[in-house]
Amino acid sequence: MAANWAPDSWTSAEARQLPEYPDAQALDAATRTLSSYPPLVFAGEARSLTAELAEVAAGRGFLLQGGDCAESFAEHSANNIRDTFRVILQMAVVLTFASKLPVVKLGRMAGQFAKPRSANTEVVDGVELPSYRGDNVNDIAFTPEARVPDPQRMLRSYAQSAATLNLLRAFAQGGYANLHQVHRWTHDFMGRSPWAQKYSEMADRIGEALDFMAACGIDPASVPQLAQTSFYTSHEALLLPYEQALTRQDSLTGDWYDTSAHFLWIGDRTRFEGSSHVEFLRGIGNPIGVKCGPSLEPEALLRMLDTLNPGRVPGRMTLITRYGHDKIEAHLPKLVRAVTREGHPVVWSCDPMHGNTIKAATGYKTRPFDRILAEVRGFFAVHRAEGTHAGGIHAEMTGQNVTECTGGAIDVTEQSLADRYHTHCDPRLNAGQSLELAFLLAEMLNEEMAERRKAAA
Ligand code: TRP
Ligand code: MN
Repeated sequence: MAANWAPDSWTSAEARQLPEYPDAQALDAATRTLSSYPPLVFAGEARSLTAELAEVAAGRGFLLQGGDCAESFAEHSANNIRDTFRVILQMAVVLTFASKLPVVKLGRMAGQFAKPRSANTEVVDGVELPSYRGDNVNDIAFTPEARVPDPQRMLRSYAQSAATLNLLRAFAQGGYANLHQVHRWTHDFMGRSPWAQKYSEMADRIGEALDFMAACGIDPASVPQLAQTSFYTSHEALLLPYEQALTRQDSLTGDWYDTSAHFLWIGDRTRFEGSSHVEFLRGIGNPIGVKCGPSLEPEALLRMLDTLNPGRVPGRMTLITRYGHDKIEAHLPKLVRAVTREGHPVVWSCDPMHGNTIKAATGYKTRPFDRILAEVRGFFAVHRAEGTHAGGIHAEMTGQNVTECTGGAIDVTEQSLADRYHTHCDPRLNAGQSLELAFLLAEMLNEEMAERRKAAA
């Protein structure tokens, strides 16, 4: 357990990106209510995830983390949850087949409601209002009333997270994740798309492997591993009053866990030295992620790893790098070398989304698909050169057929962005683009594994 730590010790450090609630009593009442609610996840589940991530850190697994940039109250529906879950599973099948490694499935779901912002206020047509900070802080509508931080929103986030998690658990365990079924969706989806040709060979091979196993008597009816999967949840640990209220002492080990999700990460804007957010995460037993951007120097990263994982527990730390397609090859090697030299066990994961955001001529915030892929390629190239494992991907994506990122095999153009641009924050990959990303990742993972076999021979 961390020394000199308590669930509220973050309050004496420097907190950035936290809302200023106008009514301290209302905040107190809301967090007291939250503290009395049951945990959303169980500490034992968080420990299982740490164990799975330890395998990834050792090069024996791959991490797939994906979901909305920001979940919203308005778009909460069973269909939305189902569709995102389904695409994540489709991606997972492709990646598992290509890498022959277990894939850890981690949703950016059931709690991803708080957003850091680059400015405290936003100006529209000469009117200046506080920025929208996510649905558990304020409302996206551009009116003075809507933008006032309201602590009651945390209770609604909790309720929505509980409902989402409940459905995800049912999907993962209740038959919806049946491997044959998931593959059939991919097969049907590809049948309808012009780019199917490129990937049909791999899809056919997956189908054959499943048919062969079924003929041998290994099918979902006889083997539960084929009918079920483990699915974990994650979000950015940004709104610390919410996270603190859901932090509980595990009765089995006496350790503290943030029971709002299995995995929590710290953003690029809140990971500075002396940060409240680092102080909070230091004391919880969950596996944690750190977003690493261009401003992070190797020495600062090493000090942070010593703070967050002094025991060097494998699976505890995931480093999620986000540089931009044109910066990754210049920045990533020095971090990889420093971490390797110090012997810190980490999962290296690639966020190819946040460093590749641009403003389209039409005014929309977008991300060109070819830049996303270029960053992924750079990520694999660096890890190959350094002899480390390209361990994971972190994507902002949805199962809906949105038009938010440009490009992809079914080309989204800058002109068509307006058709279905629904995100509450950053542009997400749609279902087709997500699956295409998985096939490209599969090719790269395949190469990494072939290289490894060669080195071992
Ligand atoms: N249980 C295995 C796993 O989760 C196989 C599996 C079943 C699976 N359903 C799946 C894999 C859906 C990916 C997607 O890896
Ligand atoms: Mn985002």
